[in-house]
Amino acid sequence: MCALFSSFFSQKKDIWPGMTDVHSHLLPGVDDGFSSLEDSREMLAFLQELGVKRMFLTPHIMADLAKNRAVTLKEHFGTFRESCEGISVDMRLAAEYMLDECFYERMEEGLLSYDGEHVLVEVSCLQAPGDLFEKLYAIQLNGFIPVMAHPERYPFWDISGLMKLKEHGCKFQLNLFSLAGFYGTLPHKTSLSLLKKGYYDFAGTDIHSLNYRRGYDTLSLKKDQYEAVEKLLHGNETLWKQ
Ligand SMILES: [Fe+2]
Repeated sequence: MCALFSSFFSQKKDIWPGMTDVHSHLLPGVDDGFSSLEDSREMLAFLQELGVKRMFLTPHIMADLAKNRAVTLKEHFGTFRESCEGISVDMRLAAEYMLDECFYERMEEGLLSYDGEHVLVEVSCLQAPGDLFEKLYAIQLNGFIPVMAHPERYPFWDISGLMKLKEHGCKFQLNLFSLAGFYGTLPHKTSLSLLKKGYYDFAGTDIHSLNYRRGYDTLSLKKDQYEAVEKLLHGNETLWKQ
């Protein structure tokens, strides 16, 4: 295959079979994600059909969702799993922690991490907290590694701002549908740039509803992007190591 043709060769559905997804809002009725058990089960059936192997469920934990605490989410997760009998997609509970005014209290209660080590975090899309670096440091002092969810989606961080997060010990999780322009022009451009530079560590879908099915159907990657994403999916598997 000549180099020119090869660089435009697109891969449509090959990333999904065997995938471990590290970011989803599949746990129904707890945040702005899936709202009913029926929808969550329908999505799981769709994912199973695609060959997705494992899903981390990562509900939001933030001040605005006061009921979402590690203990209560574990209970919800247990009930949900029991109602998903017959579905072969393996599931585990983690969380997506907003680095807001409640974060230290939530950390004291025990963090829902991926693997006992990595913790998914986010900040408001409007503004990063003034004490962001103190919080990132506190997470590490507690023995965890922060993983910033979808860094490409924050309009106030350019590449050098994002690099500062990396220098402060943060790993990065790509939202795969950013690569298809799902969140607009700037996240699209930033995601392509970060992927090309090799700055991501993990990749997830961040699915919130059945509407995200069209993302799976339409995501198309050039050969070099496909290869870069494959590496991130290997990274995802390391989080399922317990
Ligand atoms: Fe999310």
